[in-house]
Amino acid sequence: MTLPRHVAIIMDGNGRWAAARGLPRHAGHKEGVEPVRMCVRESLRNGIGALTLFAFSSENWGRPGEEVSALMGLFVEALDSQIDELHENGVRVAFIGDRQGFPERLRARMAAAEARTAHNAKLRLQVAVGYGGRWDILNATRQLAERCASGAMRPADLSEDDLSAALQLSGLPDPDLFIRTGGERRISNFLLWNLAYTELYFCADLWPDFNADGFGAALQDFASRQRRFGLTGAQSGEGA
Ligand code: FPP
Repeated sequence: MTLPRHVAIIMDGNGRWAAARGLPRHAGHKEGVEPVRMCVRESLRNGIGALTLFAFSSENWGRPGEEVSALMGLFVEALDSQIDELHENGVRVAFIGDRQGFPERLRARMAAAEARTAHNAKLRLQVAVGYGGRWDILNATRQLAERCASGAMRPADLSEDDLSAALQLSGLPDPDLFIRTGGERRISNFLLWNLAYTELYFCADLWPDFNADGFGAALQDFASRQRRFGLTGAQSGEGA
């Protein structure tokens, strides 16, 4: 079976999972930690080299203050409780996104987790926090514009590779498979540049209900896709 090298996931449906049980939204987020562990476990087991999870978008700052602080508390708690196991399993953790605005105690833990696991190589786990695809492209554009303004680079020489290298996922292959749970069929300002040729997979499971069978079904579906990258089937080696 052809496996993706990099899987990107929008974990959607925590609020609805909680509401269906008459619970506050943060109870759904708490329940969402186990499927995160499952995805890491399944990625390691299948030899998938990279996993990128959308945990908190730039737009999520607009949610009620109570929910935002519950999420921040959950991130700190999850990092504290999971980091030893991640490290022991050879997972390299990185956070992508704009960390300004995150509480200092959380920023310190994110930096410590990145430093501690920096030399691990089994699985690269990116957790997107304060992330937006447009922000990512804008941020990269600013870096390149500054290099041009300083004379280090000429605008006419800028390439797609230069822009890729200035993005948050620099150095990683683009995701081969994108999964969104929760039934919506949108990219929602996730990795806009990097998803250009990614296979999209949507499923109705609410995130807390997403299990190893659901992850396996996404991998099976991916294996059945013909990826042509703009070429004909014969050219791309995928048949007619
Ligand atoms: C989307 O569901 C989910 C989030 C905004 C938060 C995701 C956070 C977790 C899964 C917690 C664990 C994460 C880590 C990295 C340890 P929603 O609230 O938009 O659900 P709804 O569409 O049903 O309202």
